[in-house]
Amino acid sequence: MALDLAIILPTLNERDNLAPLVARIEDALGETGWEVLVVDDNSSDGTAEEARRIAREDNRVRVLQRIGRRGLSSAAIEGFCATAAPFVAVMDADHQHDPALLVDLLEAVRSGQADVAVASRFAEGASTDQWANPEREKLSGVANRLARKLTGVELSDPMSGYFLLQTETALALVPRLSGIGFKILLDLLATSEKPLKVRDIPMDFAARRAGESKLDRAIAVDFLAGLYDKAFGRIIPTRFALFGTVGALGVLVHLAILYLCLWLAGTQFAWSQAIATLGAMTFNFWLNNFLTYRDRRLETFGKLLRGWASFVLACSIGAFANVAIAATLFERGVHSLLAALVGIAIGSVWNYALSSRFVWGRY
Ligand code: GDD
Ligand code: MN
Repeated sequence: MALDLAIILPTLNERDNLAPLVARIEDALGETGWEVLVVDDNSSDGTAEEARRIAREDNRVRVLQRIGRRGLSSAAIEGFCATAAPFVAVMDADHQHDPALLVDLLEAVRSGQADVAVASRFAEGASTDQWANPEREKLSGVANRLARKLTGVELSDPMSGYFLLQTETALALVPRLSGIGFKILLDLLATSEKPLKVRDIPMDFAARRAGESKLDRAIAVDFLAGLYDKAFGRIIPTRFALFGTVGALGVLVHLAILYLCLWLAGTQFAWSQAIATLGAMTFNFWLNNFLTYRDRRLETFGKLLRGWASFVLACSIGAFANVAIAATLFERGVHSLLAALVGIAIGSVWNYALSSRFVWGRY
């Protein structure tokens, strides 16, 4: 049988789940007509090696290993672009999604009933009993309501990670997708100008087999960043907006240190501004690493130290301009607050330009 359906499995540390999942997919779909595309973000547990091992024995399985990149959405997008199959499905690799449902999803789209078939955790007849994660269920409910309001798309589970559509439909939307975070389905639906016909198919959302959830911790931040990106991303890019927000918090830290030095310690203004700048830089490095560049987070002590040093170095040109300009303005009688803010504004343009390339850049 000719190639009909590609199943994209985005993976992050799912080594032990892969082989049993491929077996279950074969049980559901039969021997031919499908391929599995493992899109792995360089997992540390050897998921990509395991996928290659499986692929050597079974050429229906292929591997796409991404280095230095992260994200469920962008992994799915690269999967769309890497298959020749006319239909494409995305599903979790951790056995929470039952492959048996692929048959129904495919039928719904092939028959023309729907442009996108979605396996839903919240449709009539679905169940999440085995999930046993009440916090996440609640969060999902809130996110779904918000998503429906913002996109006008009526479906019971817009955050579902299990859906199927024509590859053609996906490819036509790819150039305009945001690719941020995990909500690829919502991204597809919100991006399409012609409303896509959706068919909900209830699923029993199972418990994860091996390993642990990757989305538990980052899910709220990712969700908000994604919504922001859809609404304003074209005007001010999400990363720059985050960097700016962190910078604004850094200003508060800066001012706190500045006035602590000036008033409590009686330090000279230029010195106080310099100390405050270093303090704010350290704070900004930490928060940017945590939030703005969470997908490229520096984690080991060595990388953190090197990152902090290059952040300070990259920003020192900006900091130099910052201190010089602020001090000059202050000497000319400009109010200390205004002088400090002007210095900061000029410095921060440098900080973003240099640090996004040299601190969290890929090379
Ligand atoms: N390539 C890649 N990159 N894969 C990832 C990444 C990533 O950054 N993050 C997660 N994955 C993979 C996981 O390995 C898994 O196969 C799948 O994406 C889903 O991740 P889980 O960590 O199992 O997510 P979950 O079970 O907590 O979240 C469920 O609910 C979300 C919405 O609330 C899933 O069904 C998601 O698909 C769904 O969007
Ligand atoms: Mn999961």
